Amino acid sequence: MHVESLTISELRNLRAVNLEATGRVNIIYGANGSGKTSVLEALYALGYGRSFRTHQARQMIHHSAESFTVFARINEGLDEPARVGFQRFRGGEHEIRINGDKGCRLSDLARHVPVQLMTPEGVELITDGPKARRQYMDWGLFHVEQSDYAHWIAYARLLKQRNALLRSGRFKQDGGSFWDTQLAQSGEALTVARRRYLNNLNNELNAYCGRFLPGMAFEFKLVPGWNESQSLLEALQGKIELDQRQGYTSVGPSKAEWQIRVDGADARERLSRGQLKLLVAALRLVQGGDYRQRRGQSCIYLIDDLPAELDPENQERFCQALNEDDSQVFVTAIEKSNLLSHFSNEETRLFHVEHGTITDKTTG
Ligand SMILES: Nc1ncnc2c1ncn2[C@@H]1O[C@H](COP(=O)(O)OP(=O)(O)OP(=O)(O)O)[C@@H](O)[C@H]1O
Ligand SMILES: [Mg+2]
Repeated sequence: MHVESLTISELRNLRAVNLEATGRVNIIYGANGSGKTSVLEALYALGYGRSFRTHQARQMIHHSAESFTVFARINEGLDEPARVGFQRFRGGEHEIRINGDKGCRLSDLARHVPVQLMTPEGVELITDGPKARRQYMDWGLFHVEQSDYAHWIAYARLLKQRNALLRSGRFKQDGGSFWDTQLAQSGEALTVARRRYLNNLNNELNAYCGRFLPGMAFEFKLVPGWNESQSLLEALQGKIELDQRQGYTSVGPSKAEWQIRVDGADARERLSRGQLKLLVAALRLVQGGDYRQRRGQSCIYLIDDLPAELDPENQERFCQALNEDDSQVFVTAIEKSNLLSHFSNEETRLFHVEHGTITDKTTG
C-alpha cells in the first residue's frame, strides 16, 4: 500500500493541508509544535479510526471547528487508487467514504490502510498493560489471517452479550449457560488462530531481532487468558460466581496477551529500556514483513521522532530494514539532515511543517 496523496482539514493545528506526490520515504520536519506528529495522527486515524495520542477524539479537532477530515488516495497496485476519507465530529460520530460510497464501516476503511506506528512511547507495547499486545496480534488476524478474523468477531459479539447478561443479574434465568457453549467454541477457535499467527511470526522474529540485539534468542509466547489445562467452557463455568458478582467475564481470550521470551526469560525482566525499544522496532518490522510476505503488499510505517527512539547505529539498521522492505515511510524529526543521511535516495521527499502549514521542499 502506498499513500499517493493526503489531505487533512481541521485536525489540531492542520487547518487545510495537502501533501501531493508523496514518495516512498517522506521526511516531515519542523520546529516543536509545528504539526509533525499531527500528520502521522491523521494517517493513523485512517488505519484505526482513532488517535494514538488521546482517547478523546474531540481533542484532535481544531478548537474552532466541528469536525476534522482526512482524505487519501492509496495505491494498492490496481489500475485506480482507492479513495478513502474519514471524518470525525465533536459528538463522537464519524463518517467514512470509500471510492465515493458513504456509510462504510471502519473495518472497510482499515483494510485499505495497514499502518505500523513507532513513537518515543512505543516501548509501552512491552512494558504497559496487555491491551496493546492483544491489539498487536489481532491486527495480524484482521490484516493477514482474514478468515480467522471471523472467530474474533463471533467471540466479541458473544462476549458482549454475556457481559450484558451478567450485569443484568439474570444470567441463569436468561440461558447464560447455553450461550457459554458458543462463547467457548468461538473463543477456542480464536485462540488457535492467535497462536498460529504468533508461531508464524516466530519464524522471522530472530532474523529481525538479530539485527538489533545479536546473540540472543527470542520467542513469542501466547498467554491465552485462561489455564489451558481446562477447556475454555470449564474455565468460564469455574468463574461464574465471581463473574456474576463483578458483572463481567474474568477469563478467556478477552484477557489474552503475549510475552516475548529472551533466552527463556521474560523480555521485560531481561532487557534494558534501550534494548526494549530495539525489540519494539523489531516487532513492528516483523509484523510488517509478515504482512508483506503473505499479502504481497507493504505496510505504511509512521515513525515519530526517530532520533528519540534509537541510537544512530540502530537508526541506520532500522532504516536499512525499511529500505529493503520497500515499505512506504512517513517519518518526523526536528532536523532533516539526520534523516536524509539514512534515506538518501531519489524516492525520498521532504516536507517542511511550520505553524500548521506544509511546504514540499523536495529538490531535483
Ligand atoms: N485541538 C487543537 N486545536 C488547535 N490546535 C491544536 C489542537 N491540539 C493541539 N494543537 C496544536 O497543534 C500543534 C500540533 O502539535 P504536534 O504535536 O503535531 O507538533 P509537533 O510538530 O509534532 O511537535 P513536537 O516536535 O514538539 O513533537 C501544537 O502547536 C498544538 O498546540
Ligand atoms: Mg511531535
